[in-house]
Amino acid sequence: MNVLGIESSCDETAAAVVKDGRKILSNIIDSQEKLHRRFRGIVPEIASRSHVEKINAVIEKAIQKTGRVDAMAVTVGPGLIGSLLVGKMTAEALAWAWDRPLVGINHLEAHLFSALLDSPRLEPPFLGLIVSGGHTHLVIVEDFGKYKTLGQTRDDSAGECFDKVASMLKLGYPGGPAIDKTAKLGNPKAIPFPRPYLTGSWDFSFSGLKTAVLYYLNDFPEKISNVEDICASFQSAVTDVLTHKTFLAAKRYGLKKIAVGGGVSANSELRKKFNIESRKSGIRAYFPSLILSTDNAAMVAAVGFYKHQRGISSKHLQVDPSLPLTNWEKSSLPFSLSPFGERGG
Ligand code: KG4
Ligand code: ZN
Repeated sequence: MNVLGIESSCDETAAAVVKDGRKILSNIIDSQEKLHRRFRGIVPEIASRSHVEKINAVIEKAIQKTGRVDAMAVTVGPGLIGSLLVGKMTAEALAWAWDRPLVGINHLEAHLFSALLDSPRLEPPFLGLIVSGGHTHLVIVEDFGKYKTLGQTRDDSAGECFDKVASMLKLGYPGGPAIDKTAKLGNPKAIPFPRPYLTGSWDFSFSGLKTAVLYYLNDFPEKISNVEDICASFQSAVTDVLTHKTFLAAKRYGLKKIAVGGGVSANSELRKKFNIESRKSGIRAYFPSLILSTDNAAMVAAVGFYKHQRGISSKHLQVDPSLPLTNWEKSSLPFSLSPFGERGG
């Protein structure tokens, strides 16, 4: 079954066709990065206008050579309301005109499963880590549509923290890739930034770390020339926390697989640390390819396939800018998945 996915929740206009939830037939992404760069962040009004201008051409390109479209899937939240509406209205109109089933997809869910597109043998159950511009979630994925969120960020998301620190260092937007690149030239042990482990909880908190970088810059303005060391030390702190908590949770819940998704999963240091920890623990870590780490529509189409398989579709969808990650069916996790209790690390 070929599913056409449409993604427009933030600043990427994307469409993709995926066969049977696993094989990418096309994957078109039109990034608005250049439009927002001079504002050092996403301007919602500019984002939705650009989606309107681009979405038809992006979809046309995605379906040009892929043959039949059997079903459609579109992101309905979380995201920017205007941007989400462009995707939803376009998808609804096409589903009506082509008489195809349509499925609404949670953007977080799409990131959770993005690694499946590169790893044909990856199936739930696994522990999912979503690290994007808007979210940091640690989730037990028992099955498609069956989730238990262990923890999430209490303030800034990991991606937001990368972007804000990059902005303080005048490295431009988006900040994650710039910090990743600059950090390669620095010493990660140069500055002992705090590691917010929040022992006893699976939640995350990155705003204190961001403030620690700000204080460092205020206290030692002469050291701003040392950008490489600041980037490497900051990145080391974020990735230490993400790696430690994720592997601890996988061990506590007896999960042998971890799947990471979202823009920050493109981070080279995070990938390196997960690989090292993976070899030590025997818990396998799966990452999406770089193009599928950040926003794309292939991950939306993939989840659309599994949702459609379970008989979920609707001609009319509702968008929700703060859509939470919820289960498709009423479910409770079997007790065997939490043998050590809820206490986090
Ligand atoms: O998943 P995504 O494309 O959009 C959202 O759903 O938010 O994530 C975007 C975030 C941005 O904060 C960006 O700075 C971050 O992902 N990012 C990175 C890297 N590439 C993108 N963060 C750290 N290292 C990277 N290589
Ligand atoms: Zn995203």
